[in-house]
Amino acid sequence: MDKSPEEIPFHNRDQQNVLVMLEEAQYEAGCVSEARIAEVAESLDVSQSEVYGVATFYSFLSVKPLGRNVIRVCKSLPCYLKNSRMIIESIAAELGIKPGETTPDMKFSFELTNCIGGCDKAPAMLINSDVHGDLTPEKIAQILKSYD
Ligand code: FES
Repeated sequence: MDKSPEEIPFHNRDQQNVLVMLEEAQYEAGCVSEARIAEVAESLDVSQSEVYGVATFYSFLSVKPLGRNVIRVCKSLPCYLKNSRMIIESIAAELGIKPGETTPDMKFSFELTNCIGGCDKAPAMLINSDVHGDLTPEKIAQILKSYD
């Protein structure tokens, strides 16, 4: 018996295609808009909720506009054990925003993420594609000042 499209599980290949298309959208527009989610869903014949699920699962995708510079502090265990909590608190104090927020001037968005591959320099964070490691609260203000 044939299944209706709604009954067919979200196939792995479709999920990879969705991810590639959403990464393109993120790169082009800085976020994945509702309109883009609808386009991707229609072009791959999957539901918008499935596409939205992918867009909100990966920390490198965002469904809301992000600031010019995106800070991603590693929240994984090795960084946590090296006091990433202090780094998160320092950034929050410096910028006046919490993880998940963007400064009113759109200069910085502040996100938490899983391991960024800088465990040997834990605690670590990314700003855009720059890795900053061996962080201390004292280094945070100077690092943030180096971004326009
Ligand atoms: S655990 Fe933080 S960079 Fe790998």
